[in-house]
Parts: sequence; structure tokens; C-alpha cells
Amino acid sequence: MDRRNFIMTAGAASQAVFGQNANKKITTGVIGVGNRGSHLMTEVLRQPNAQVVALCDIRADRLDAAATKAASAKPKTTSDWRKIIDDKSIDAVYIATPPYLHVEMAIAALKAGKHVYCEKPVGTTADSIRDLIKVVDQSKTVFHVGQQLRSYSQISAAIKLIHEGAIGDVLFVKAQRHASADLPHDFTSADWYYQKEKSGGYLVEQSVHNLDACNWAIGQRPIRAAGFGGINLYKNSPKGRDIMDHQSITYDYANGVKLSFTQMVFHPKGMPVGGQTINVYGTKGSVELMNDASFYSLDGKVQNLLTPKVEQKGDAHTTVFFDCILNGKPSNADVRVGATGALTAILGNQVCEQGRVINWDEFGVDV
Ligand SMILES: NC(=O)c1ccc[n+]([C@@H]2O[C@H](COP(=O)([O-])OP(=O)(O)OC[C@H]3O[C@@H](n4cnc5c(N)ncnc54)[C@H](O)[C@@H]3O)[C@@H](O)[C@H]2O)c1
Repeated sequence: MDRRNFIMTAGAASQAVFGQNANKKITTGVIGVGNRGSHLMTEVLRQPNAQVVALCDIRADRLDAAATKAASAKPKTTSDWRKIIDDKSIDAVYIATPPYLHVEMAIAALKAGKHVYCEKPVGTTADSIRDLIKVVDQSKTVFHVGQQLRSYSQISAAIKLIHEGAIGDVLFVKAQRHASADLPHDFTSADWYYQKEKSGGYLVEQSVHNLDACNWAIGQRPIRAAGFGGINLYKNSPKGRDIMDHQSITYDYANGVKLSFTQMVFHPKGMPVGGQTINVYGTKGSVELMNDASFYSLDGKVQNLLTPKVEQKGDAHTTVFFDCILNGKPSNADVRVGATGALTAILGNQVCEQGRVINWDEFGVDV
């Protein structure tokens, strides 16, 4: 059975269960209610077919704050994530803990028969991601990665048009994720973010969104990469930091396309060409994907929007998750989307650390 049919079958089973009671809500637990998890919890609270029934965090202050926000739903609270996994009354879990914990928690939840919304990156090492893919493939529940660009209407529409030939054949992609500073060193996540072992580093923790969108536009994953990076501004700041503050990587794809990607945290505010951009260059012209999908023909005569501007609904990706559970739709951010994005970022880190060209095949992970 192929992956799509497998998910459809699993979804159909859920539908049969839930179909017996139209008023049944999908009982949902949130593990990790810091910055992202507390936001995702409010998205779940707004879903008509879901109910927040349990919250988990090892920090009592964050657990209390989230429970207060969700007071109308009266969720149970615990500091032990395994209690959420063991609770048979819970249908679905959101995992919004630091990245190094995702694989262990996701595998446990899947083995307990739960639907999983797992924040990106799905994992921080190739070996753990390989393990996760195996378990997802054996599960009958939905696995959805928090790469929400996949549910953004404008970028989805623009990439569909690229695939249909709107800019001709794709030749090259130039993309970046530039910020003017590190995340604040007293931010909620500062206790793990600056340690590569826990976050995976800047590229894995944040640029995974951008790298995924580049792969999506190109229509495949890279076959190899080369690049450089390091710490030039934030040396030992915060103390013990081992994640790079700048990286410049070139990825090579089997179809001959190259992706040139830079990330840095010292692009001055107000200086042009900052922020997040993805220029996709084709034989007919180029489109910038991250902002308004503006298209520029190669001869400069045409300049227009590839797709009309749309107001993006913030909850879209969570809505898709519950739609997959209830209606058996395949996830638009399944484990292979998550694994490919994370592995592309891990490859980028490895080439910068090792100073050599590295082939994707060295991972030994089939995506
Ligand atoms: N999709 C997005 O746009 C987006 C945005 C921000 C963060 N994220 C992702 O969400 C995840 C969390 O990021 P954050 O910024 O919310 O970090 P955070 O530090 O603010 O929150 C993580 C929470 O997990 C809790 N935690 C740690 N270990 C735990 C354990 N063993 N059991 C239960 N709780 C535990 C922490 O106490 C903390 O409250 C990361 O993977 C990050 O990449 C995604």
C-alpha cells in the first residue's frame, strides 16, 4: 500500500470512529507550552472539532499560564509528558518542546496510537529521523509537521504555478534568512536554543522553513552541498554558545538546479535585501516567493504578481491537521516533508563544520 492510501485508510478509520458521534471532539494534549506551544494551544482552542484536554510542561510557571489561558476548557496539567502519552482518552498531541526531544516524544505518541502535530524540526540527527520515518510508516494515525508554510495559500499557489511552468524551467534559487540580531538571550528558549545538541543550530531550528520551501519550489531534495559558516559576531555569547551566527551554503540538485542559501543575524535593520527571501529563477523570468510572489520576466518587460495577494489565516496549518484526522486527507506536511527539510538543514551544518562537499547519500535515509 502506498503512503497516501495508507493515510487515507487510517483516516477513514478515524472518521468511522468519530462519525458515530457528530459532536465528538478530538481530545488534544499539548506537550511543551512555552512560546510556540502556548500559541498552538490557542489555535486548537479555536477549532470547532477539537478540545484541549491536557497540558504538559516541566516549568510550573508556563504550565500555569497556559492552563489559565485555556481555563474554559479545564485541561488536566502535568509535568510528566509520559502521562499524556499513556492517557487513552487523548486522541491527538501537539509536541512543542525543544527540538532534541521531538523524535522520542513523537515515536512514543505514535506507538500509543495518537495523532501527532510535531513542531519542526522533526529531529536534529539523521539517525533519529530515520527511526521516526520507520515508526510513522507503521502507524495508522496522522503525523503532521509544524512547517506551516505548506498551508499558506499564496506560497502554495505560486509554487503550483512554478511547477506548471509559469517561469519556465527552474534554473537557480537564491534564498536567505537574515535577522538583525540573535533571538534575545533571555528569551523563553534561550536555555536550549544556543546549544547545537539541543536545537540543531540556527539552520535546523529556523531556516528549515526556508530550505523546505526551496526544495518544494525546485521539486526535489538536494543531492550534495558545500559551504562555510562560523561565529563571527556572537563569540561565546551567550556563554557556551556553539551555534553559528552566519552560514553560506550551496546545494546541488539532480536536475542541475543550484540553491545558494545564506543565514546571518547581523543584517542591519532598514538595510535593503534583509529578512527572508526566496528568488526562484527560471528560463522565462524570476519570482520572489516569501513576500508577494512578484514575477519579473527575463527581458524586464513584464512585472506582475504571479498570484493575487491573499490574507493568510494564521490557524491554517492546525485546521489542516484536524481535517486530516477527521476526513482522512493526507497531510501536506507529512514525515517526509519534515525529514527532508530537517536533513537539508543538517547537511548544510555538516558541510560548514567539515569543510568538504557532502553527498546526501551519506545519510543513508530514504525520503
Ligand atoms: N513553526 C513555527 O513557526 C515555530 C515557531 C517557534 C517555535 N517553533 C518550534 O517549537 C518548538 C519549541 O520552541 P519554543 O520557542 O516554544 O521554545 P520554548 O523554550 O519557549 O518552549 C518549549 C517548552 O518546552 C518545555 N519542555 C522542555 N522539556 C520538556 C519536557 N521534557 N517535557 C515537557 N515540557 C518540556 C519547556 O519548559 C518550554 O516551556 C521548537 O521545536 C521550535 O523550533 C516553531
